[in-house]
Amino acid sequence: MNNSQTNLNKRTWDTVASKYFGRTALPEWGVFAVERENSSLIGEIKGRTFLEIACGSGHSIDYLIQKGASKVYAVDLSHSQIELAKKTNHEAIQTGKVVVFEQPMETPIPLPELVDTVYSIYGLGWTTDIDQVLENINSCLKMNGKFVWSWEHPIYPHVEYKNGQFSFIESYHDEGLKREENWGTTEGRYIATRKISTWYNSLRQHGFDVTNIVEPAPYEATVQEQDPEKYYSVPKANLVPATIIFECVKIK
Ligand SMILES: C[S@@+](CC[C@H](N)C(=O)[O-])C[C@H]1O[C@@H](n2cnc3c(N)ncnc32)[C@H](O)[C@@H]1O
Repeated sequence: MNNSQTNLNKRTWDTVASKYFGRTALPEWGVFAVERENSSLIGEIKGRTFLEIACGSGHSIDYLIQKGASKVYAVDLSHSQIELAKKTNHEAIQTGKVVVFEQPMETPIPLPELVDTVYSIYGLGWTTDIDQVLENINSCLKMNGKFVWSWEHPIYPHVEYKNGQFSFIESYHDEGLKREENWGTTEGRYIATRKISTWYNSLRQHGFDVTNIVEPAPYEATVQEQDPEKYYSVPKANLVPATIIFECVKIK
């Protein structure tokens, strides 16, 4: 893990946290990716133990506790986000059902037990070190435990609406960590582009079987944003999925 890049992301998230309050949380898996009633990406909840990676304001934790989870652990890098998550889950923290850790996802998480399920919603892709984070997640999960997570679809940022049509603005093969100034703050953020194959192969190398990949198209119940000039729009998401979801099982 490169600490200066992670520290910059931490400073930015500490500043912008309140703007993202409850924005990407269960039962949503991300942009245009509301979980449909008859699907169950998160799996069994009642009586199960969970770990959330990059929990943000903690609304998914609350969703799981309300549905009968026995324990939810969560990590987030940002002090501001952890403070919001603590407020959102005040009661459950008091009763010991929720424990939150303010730390990067790449460093060992001091869990007192292995969990049934690890999940992350638009969180995992923030990592600056894919190998370290996957090794870390693997060590927190029971054998045959579930790891389910979502991120922006790797093709989506490469497509832009220009001169009345959608076109590729850069190559899908163009991977790596990039500094984006003026994202949230003038300092901005470090964010990586990674291909689907990079994620898939890394997951396999770190002991996970990928059992399902979901690439949802917008559907009726989705909040409609029709303006194609907007970064997230229904016309664009009808061409390229905005979100990708990986369902995995720990096999090693
Ligand atoms: C889009 S938000 C996730 C939102 C979350 N699903 C929610 O319900 O609020 C991304 C989160 O990743 C966190 N983050 C970024 N880099 C991280 C890292 N290296 N380790 C842990 N958390 C990180 C940020 O602080 C931020 O809260």
